[in-house]
Amino acid sequence: MATTNKTAIVTGGSRGLGRDMVLNLAKNGNNIIFTYNSNKTEADKVVSEVLALGQKAIAYQLDVSNIKGFDTFSNQVSEYLLEHEGSTNFDFLVNNAGVGIYGSVTDTSEETIDTLMNIHFKGV
Ligand SMILES: NC(=O)c1ccc[n+]([C@@H]2O[C@H](COP(=O)([O-])OP(=O)(O)OC[C@H]3O[C@@H](n4cnc5c(N)ncnc54)[C@H](OP(=O)(O)O)[C@@H]3O)[C@@H](O)[C@H]2O)c1
Repeated sequence: MATTNKTAIVTGGSRGLGRDMVLNLAKNGNNIIFTYNSNKTEADKVVSEVLALGQKAIAYQLDVSNIKGFDTFSNQVSEYLLEHEGSTNFDFLVNNAGVGIYGSVTDTSEETIDTLMNIHFKGV
């Protein structure tokens, strides 16, 4: 379904499924705001790919497990939207950022469980 001229926010858009979503949303005519956690180089490549598709794009660093960082992110996004779209509104939010932990229950520490909960539940 084509959704031209909308703005989408995708968390974890620098790699994997999130990157695919970013590029497909851009191919359908959407402007993109996305986040990365640790790899700015990959994020910058995705920004370039979206710009080459003729859509607007910006990437922000955000650790979704750290809720204290959300206010800064939200302010950055609002300022960007106001400047580039004329309003702080956006159309889609894809909560994609996350990690996979591959191990048995007996090998998984309490700290790892806390990390998974913070990223995939509390952060969202
Ligand atoms: N691939 C699968 O088969 C599969 C199956 C079930 C569910 N999922 C879920 O689908 C989502 C995407 O999976 P994927 O395989 O595409 O993952 P991926 O290739 O490992 O990419 C993960 C993305 O999330 C970002 N990220 C990781 N930890 C983060 C954090 N704490 N805060 C903010 N961003 C963070 C990464 O940024 P950096 O690279 O900058 O760190 C990257 O952009 C995940 O939530 C995953 O759990 C995937």
